[in-house]
Amino acid sequence: MLSIRNQFPIFNQILSKGQPVTFLDTAASAQKPRSVIEREAEVAERFYANAYRGVYRFGALVDEELEASREAVRQFIGAASTEEIAFTAGATMSLNMIAHGWGNRHLQPGDEILLSVLEHHANFVPWQQVAQRTGAMLRFIPLTATGELDLSDPTLFNERTKVVTVTGMSNVLGTQPPLDELSRKTHDVGAVLVVDAAQSLPHGPVDVSATGIDFLAFSGHKVYGPTGVGAMYGRRELLEAMEPLLFGGHMIDQVHLDHSTWAAPPARFEAGTLPILQAIALRPAIELVQSLGAMAIHEHELALTQAAHAALAEIPGVTIYGPAPEQKGAIVSFTMQGAAAEDIAHLLDRKGVFVRHGHHCTMPLHNWLQVPATVRASFGVYNTLEDVERLADALRYVRERLKLD
Ligand code: ALA
Repeated sequence: MLSIRNQFPIFNQILSKGQPVTFLDTAASAQKPRSVIEREAEVAERFYANAYRGVYRFGALVDEELEASREAVRQFIGAASTEEIAFTAGATMSLNMIAHGWGNRHLQPGDEILLSVLEHHANFVPWQQVAQRTGAMLRFIPLTATGELDLSDPTLFNERTKVVTVTGMSNVLGTQPPLDELSRKTHDVGAVLVVDAAQSLPHGPVDVSATGIDFLAFSGHKVYGPTGVGAMYGRRELLEAMEPLLFGGHMIDQVHLDHSTWAAPPARFEAGTLPILQAIALRPAIELVQSLGAMAIHEHELALTQAAHAALAEIPGVTIYGPAPEQKGAIVSFTMQGAAAEDIAHLLDRKGVFVRHGHHCTMPLHNWLQVPATVRASFGVYNTLEDVERLADALRYVRERLKLD
């Protein structure tokens, strides 16, 4: 995995005081490999044009490249057809499209939307809005003490359950809900399963067909690709029975003075001009993850997570939240007694160690944890054991500066 780091130009720099870049915020946004950076530039320099509009050669090339990227997404997530994949602005847009487009049309008073407090606000607030509009109810899957889903209550899945919406991996605790079991239970009661794969996809691809996922959302920028692009997957018959969220160019079939009809998916969900360069440059990002392989990524990141747990356990006052490293993804969220999360993040920055602090867009989860904020170190394919050591050293520096010893 070490050689992969050379493919990310951002690490070819030394910060002030001779510090290397210790980037531990991949869960917020991953760094970009040279192949992604160069692909965007290459298209812009050689054949950029709008998509799905011009028959001239640049337009045709752009269309071809976009479809190649759509096919890369299809393969990556195991979808049956590229018609089931719409490019969006990212996971937030995809989840809003699913919640409003499917939820507003199909949910009724008394229906239940099953989710948990693990959800990022992007997979929480849209469903809360849809519940308020339709009269459906949010029902919460309880968590175990370590922040895993407790599915033992037999009434959780019932005839009122219409949607089960879960993160593929918590952006705070690293919890990875059991998607196969959730899929079985969801379909046994005739509901649909929505997976927010923004965090999980960079750490190991899902297979929507094998697992039986009905809708899936992800962002390009978290999977080493560009910002501003992501995708919404939906099973064909669900997409066909769904309203678009955005209206405008490209998504229509016929426009009359008094009404309009919609194009077939995925065009129905791609109103306006797509993030063309970004969608095309998503392909080399996916290829990079595929070339490394899910197993190698998992082993590398597990070693980092285990090392981080061991190193942080040595530091007085540190509490780590969530499951054991073997039961979660490459995220370590923690607090340090006597130190505010924001102060820790500022002091770590002085050592060139970059982490996120705060509620990480999961206020309900932080209420459940009974802390207002945590500090989060998250790992990607380019991180090393030296990064973990630098985090631990920098945390000792925090204790020193704040006179906690
Ligand atoms: N969802 C991103 C995070 O967890 C921004 O940091």
